[in-house]
Amino acid sequence: MKCLVINGSPRRKNTWSMVKEVENTMSNLGEVEFYEIHLKKEKIPFCRGCFNCILNGEDKCPNSDIIQNIARKFEESDCIILSSPVYVLGPTGLIKNMLDHFAYYYHRPKLFNKKALVLVSTQGSGKKEVENYLKKSLFNFGVNKVYSCSFRFAGKNKLDNKMKDKLDKVASDFFKDVNSKKLHSPSFYQIRNYSMWRAMTHNNNIQIDNEFWIKNNLENNIFAPGIPMNIFKKAYAKIVFLFFNKIFS
Ligand SMILES: Cc1cc2nc3c(=O)[nH]c(=O)nc-3n(C[C@H](O)[C@H](O)[C@H](O)COP(=O)(O)O)c2cc1C
Repeated sequence: MKCLVINGSPRRKNTWSMVKEVENTMSNLGEVEFYEIHLKKEKIPFCRGCFNCILNGEDKCPNSDIIQNIARKFEESDCIILSSPVYVLGPTGLIKNMLDHFAYYYHRPKLFNKKALVLVSTQGSGKKEVENYLKKSLFNFGVNKVYSCSFRFAGKNKLDNKMKDKLDKVASDFFKDVNSKKLHSPSFYQIRNYSMWRAMTHNNNIQIDNEFWIKNNLENNIFAPGIPMNIFKKAYAKIVFLFFNKIFS
C-alpha cells in the first residue's frame, strides 16, 4: 500500500506525533510505503491567482514543477494522510497555500479511487472547523472516503493513552478500508458538488474542463464510473444536475 503523508505544520511536534502513531499502527497491520512531504521544505511560492491552472492547464502554473511532483504523489498513492495544526482558527498557511495550487482539482477531479485521513491538532479551539475544511477540500478533489481525527492538546506536549487508543482505532479502520479496495457510495455533499461541476462543464464554460470530463468518461455519468449508488442517490444526482444545468445554460 502506498500512502502519501503531508505535514502541514512547520514543525514535527503535536500533529506529527499523531501522524507517527497512525503510521506505526498501519505498519503493524501490513506492508505500507509512506512517502512524506514536509511542506515547509517544499518552499511553495504563494499562489499568484493567475488562473492558469484552471483555464489553461495545470502545467501552466508558474509553480508547476513543485506542484506537479505533489500531484503525481496524490495520483500514485492508494491513500493520503493530510495533517495540520489549527492556526488562528484555520489550517496553516502551508496547507492552505498548497491547496490553493490544487484549485484545478475542483474543476477536474481525479482522486475518485483514493481514501484519505485528516489529522488536526490544536491547543483549544478550531479543530472541527479545520477538520471539516480539509475533508471538504479532499471530497472536492474526488476522494472517495475521508477519515478524520482531531485533538485538543490543551497544554500537553505528548499524546496520552486515550489519544493513542483513538488514533490506533482510526488508523486500523483506515488501513482495512484502503486494503479492501472497496469504493464507498458518495455522500449527498459529494454528489451535489460532482453534479454541479458536471453541469458547468456540460455548458462548455472552460474548454480544458470539458475535454477532461469527456476523456475520463465523466461527462455522461451521474457520478464517477465504478462508484456504487442506490436509486435515491442516483435520482438526487439527476435532479441536481438538471437544476445546475438550467442555471449554467
Ligand atoms: C500561529 C499559531 C496560531 C495558532 N492558533 C490557534 C488557535 O486559533 N486556536 C488554538 O486553540 N490553538 C492555536 N494554536 C496552537 C496550535 O494549534 C497547537 O499548539 C498545535 O497542537 C501545534 O501543532 P504542531 O506541534 O504540530 O505545530 C496556534 C499556534 C500557532 C503557532
